[in-house]
Amino acid sequence: MISRVCKNITCAATAATVLLFVEASCAATQFRDEGIAAEASIKEYIGSNACPECHQGKYDDWSGKHMSNFVRYRGDNTESLPVDLGNAPIGADDVFLIVGDKKKMAFVDEHWKVLPYQYHIGKQKWIKRNEWRNQDYRLRCGSCHTVGLNPKTRQFVELNVGCEACHGPGRRHVENAAGKKMKVPGKTDGHDVLFTCRRCHNERRKHARPIQTFGGVFHGKGL
Ligand code: HEC
Ligand code: HEC
Ligand code: HEC
Ligand code: HEC
Repeated sequence: MISRVCKNITCAATAATVLLFVEASCAATQFRDEGIAAEASIKEYIGSNACPECHQGKYDDWSGKHMSNFVRYRGDNTESLPVDLGNAPIGADDVFLIVGDKKKMAFVDEHWKVLPYQYHIGKQKWIKRNEWRNQDYRLRCGSCHTVGLNPKTRQFVELNVGCEACHGPGRRHVENAAGKKMKVPGKTDGHDVLFTCRRCHNERRKHARPIQTFGGVFHGKGL
């Protein structure tokens, strides 16, 4: 069930890529996260949907984690918006992307603009976020909330923290698994595992709680 939802998200992401071309010519303003590109060119990525064929166990395990599905297209959400919009400062039709499902939610419109309100799920409260007004989600948020981002074209491969956000680009590995090894964080990349996590869990954004320790393993058992 969860895997199916994730697949939809990735399909939708591909469809949305078309939209990115249209917007690529918009003048860009400089922000702190703008220009933080993925570690490789977008062509070298393939998306998490290419992995379960050979790594079903890892895929299922990842699908159950928030990092795989905390951003979703509203079109995938059969229950429409997961919040009561009765007294909301935004209309349901404004929402194209929903970001977050635990404590807070942000909303993005069909032009990739972050709406200037955040919803606090626990307190059931709307919080004004003027600094988000008219910010492009891909540039301001995409370096940690997408995979394979190219800030120049504003294209990306996948919403959410896909396999390749931690294991590096996978297209060549999918074509020839034995010939092209993937990176294994903390094992084959010459770094502590936290090095990979800190790409996103760092101080660049206040809400991106840094991960100080990581004792266990990321995945459960199974390939
Ligand atoms: C530097 C990396 C980074 C950037 C840039 C970033 N985020 Fe995040 N974001 C994170 C991380 C990491 C978490 C998870 C924090 C945690 O759970 O400890 C997160 C969590 C969230 C959540 C909460 C999810 C929940 O379920 O409670 C929302 C909403 C969110 N981000 C929205 C945004 C928006 C909107 C932007 C752009 C304006 C943005 N983020 C930019 C790294 C980032
Ligand atoms: C066609 C089958 C196939 C697909 C598709 C595939 N893998 Fe693999 N993967 C393998 C095999 C086989 C190994 C073991 C290679 C070895 O030991 O030589 C492996 C190993 C790995 C490893 C351990 C490091 C290494 O390369 O040996 C990681 C990490 C990995 N795969 C991630 C992924 C990710 C992420 C995807 C999707 C982008 C993916 N794989 C898609 C077959 C596949
Ligand atoms: C590409 C950016 C990125 C990378 C790399 C990354 N994370 Fe995250 N992580 C996020 C975002 C965004 C969220 C917010 C999703 C959410 O609301 O749960 C998150 C959420 C989490 C959470 C809480 C959510 C949950 O699943 O319950 C944990 C724990 C976590 N990350 C651990 C890690 C660890 C450990 C690593 C390194 C092995 C790592 N992350 C690498 C972006 C990243
Ligand atoms: C948040 C980072 C992160 C994400 C996302 C992630 N992995 Fe991993 N993966 C790791 C880490 C760290 C390890 C090292 C062992 C562990 O902690 O489980 C690992 C280990 C593996 C291994 C075993 C490699 C070995 O030889 O030890 C495979 C295969 C693998 N991951 C595949 C995947 C696939 C397929 C996906 C997506 C469905 C995925 N991973 C998503 C962090 C991640």
